[in-house]
Amino acid sequence: MDFDLVIRGGTVATASDTFAADVGVSGGVVTAIARGLPDGRTTLDATDRLVLPGAIESHCHIEQESATGAMTSDDYESGSISALFGGNTSFIPFAAQHRGQSVRGTLETYHERARKSVIDYSFHLIVSDPTEQVLAEELPEAFEGGITSFKVFLTYDKLIVSDEALLDILVTARKHGALTMTHAENNALIKWMVSRLVAGGYTAPKFHAVSHPGAAEAEAISRATRLANFVGAPLLIVHVSTDEGANIVADARRSGHPIFGETCPQYLFLTRDDLDRPDGAKYCCSPPLRDEALQRDLWRHLQAGSLMLWSSDHAPYRYDETGKLSAGPNPPFNKIANGMPGIELRAPLLMSEGVLKGRITLNQFVALTATNAAKLFGIHPQKGTIAVGSDADVAIWNPSETRTVTQAGMHDAMDYTPFEGMSLTGWPETVICRGEVAMAGGVLHRKPGDGAFMKRAPFDFTGYSPSTPPELDPATAFGASLL
Ligand code: URP
Ligand code: ZN
Ligand code: ZN
Repeated sequence: MDFDLVIRGGTVATASDTFAADVGVSGGVVTAIARGLPDGRTTLDATDRLVLPGAIESHCHIEQESATGAMTSDDYESGSISALFGGNTSFIPFAAQHRGQSVRGTLETYHERARKSVIDYSFHLIVSDPTEQVLAEELPEAFEGGITSFKVFLTYDKLIVSDEALLDILVTARKHGALTMTHAENNALIKWMVSRLVAGGYTAPKFHAVSHPGAAEAEAISRATRLANFVGAPLLIVHVSTDEGANIVADARRSGHPIFGETCPQYLFLTRDDLDRPDGAKYCCSPPLRDEALQRDLWRHLQAGSLMLWSSDHAPYRYDETGKLSAGPNPPFNKIANGMPGIELRAPLLMSEGVLKGRITLNQFVALTATNAAKLFGIHPQKGTIAVGSDADVAIWNPSETRTVTQAGMHDAMDYTPFEGMSLTGWPETVICRGEVAMAGGVLHRKPGDGAFMKRAPFDFTGYSPSTPPELDPATAFGASLL
């Protein structure tokens, strides 16, 4: 047994098991998990440490123009470094097709941008202009290239797709084995609220929360879920922020449909009261921050598995004229770029407040931060677990280290963190990417370009049997063939 690297004496955890073992690595993959392995060319002592699969950040906006033209502060270099310091060994940001752009050109642009990444990456394609050419040629071509998920918006005037277009996209996705993701909020209800609030002079950041009622989310989740179920397509509802929305997701899965839900740290650790601070613009995101009752609901959904992805929705717009204050020093809530940073704190927040406070198990932590994303997005078992044959993407955590969160301690290109001042216990100490130490003791050991593109497999339908409704079944639709 000849190892490049041995991680010795730690507590290894996967999404199912926790055990004491050494991990041996050769050629960038795990080749042995046993006790008493001989030393490798490098041997790391993991005594009193947790040896976990590298986390996978599957919802983040990196070097991405918003529909209104604002650019995120993080590019693929700073964004990937920040992710790495937060225990992530790969990530899947968005490649955003804006109206009038081709999918082909969009993907070329993002492949070029991502060449600076220090960790492995793929993209979810945002589809905002599903023309016939996009549906018939460019999406299939994207799938062939290993992009097997994409996102559609049911809100934001410049990104929204109609229900009809959503059906076209869902059917195309099902045909090719892609997973559709959706930002589900009812656009009309939000616009109706915004115009009434603005007309009444209620424009402070706190009214952002009022303008996006929970009912807008629940309606859109319900509609998107019904449409996906009708055509038998898998669907992931991102950033679920209501109990009602999470229940719709859970009910659909209980009924046998491949419907999944994600939530994000901001909904569990912040509330709408944060929007009422003098710098409330920092806390504008959509769906908006809500209340403490929601925090309890979302913990319950994470515990029960009804929401099975924990993502940051890192959308880094600085608190200056390039980002949050582009409309002036006191912008009305409807002119504030939506989103907040969190890629570096996503996993530490869940370790500290979830695992170490006894709300979830260590195995649930691994599932929520790594394994479930790897499975949903077609990179398991290469990524997302520690198993013989898997990439040696490993984060060694010190469960006893306590740190106070400060922006100065972050590695992104932001000028604030919404979690400033929180005391968190449990931090990634050493992060290993494909068998190489990428970060150790706060020191970066990677350079731009060390990350590689991950060609992803199609969505795995095992365990789901999407039905064909009578209206789409030629045998019962008077011979009509519609799919
Ligand atoms: O407010 C948010 N979440 N901004 C980022 C874009 C999105 O909707 O995911
Ligand atoms: Zn969104
Ligand atoms: Zn997002």
